[in-house]
Amino acid sequence: MKGIILAGGRGTRLFPLTTAVSKQLLPVYDKPMVYYPLSMLMLAGIRDILVISSPDALPQFRSLLCDGSQWGLRFAYAAQAEPRGLADAFLVGRDFIADEPVCLILGDNIFFGHGLPNQLRRAAQLTEGATIFAYPVRDPQRYGVVEFDETGRALSIEEKPKHPRSNYAVPGIYFYDQQVVGIAAGLQPSARNEIEITDVNNVYLSRGQLSVEALGRGVAWLDAGTHETLLQAGGFIQAVQDRQGMMISCPEEIAYRLGYIDADEVRRQALVINNQYGEYLLLLLKENLPFHRGVA
Ligand code: G1P
Repeated sequence: MKGIILAGGRGTRLFPLTTAVSKQLLPVYDKPMVYYPLSMLMLAGIRDILVISSPDALPQFRSLLCDGSQWGLRFAYAAQAEPRGLADAFLVGRDFIADEPVCLILGDNIFFGHGLPNQLRRAAQLTEGATIFAYPVRDPQRYGVVEFDETGRALSIEEKPKHPRSNYAVPGIYFYDQQVVGIAAGLQPSARNEIEITDVNNVYLSRGQLSVEALGRGVAWLDAGTHETLLQAGGFIQAVQDRQGMMISCPEEIAYRLGYIDADEVRRQALVINNQYGEYLLLLLKENLPFHRGVA
């Protein structure tokens, strides 16, 4: 399965923070925001990853992430000249996807929780249809909202409804089979003049090929799109990391634990990070309980 990180948009809700810097490069405590969705793709076992961003920001993503080989990955980059909606990622990424299944993750979505790596790995086995997730939130009208029947089957998905039929939002991580490019190509722009991911999901739903999995309350799904939520996300990451002494969404650690890079490579990368991030990487190498800490 291929992966796409969509890191476009103008980030207007975060102005002036994002006047000159891409939202997905802003810090969430000790890492650039894009490390968090990237780590989810890695935990799903995905190694071929396309980063889509605006033409201005793309060089900055390249200088941060390089070709991916430092973490045992392969990155490709593509520019999205205008933000035309989330589903446009499949049109921009058409050649990259090349008729394979693909996982799209939004560059500002942060996930953390027990059981998540297994759930992601399972979803990445998909060969037919689509898998999306549902997560209870207090303010569903800001999101795609999924309605279920009493057996837990999805009935409808609506984008930012004024009167949500449930409090289950659809988080920004989606797994699709190879039909997705054709589906995206056939969509009409919505009232906000975007081709909507919710419309893609509704096509799968109408074909009886959409599976909606619940993300339990033990999973944190954070949105870092406003000043308040950006600060909250950073505070959450700091609190958990500081308490457990384990990093959340550290690509070097995940690459090491998945066996993509060896100890010498981790050491080499750690030595140029002259702070607690680098110290953490060095500590990993001393640990002799490889399964104790998991990979999340
Ligand atoms: C987008 C999607 C929405 C989804 C959300 C998740 O919203 O359109 O369905 O629930 O991402 O973050 P947007 O970021 O465009 O407001």
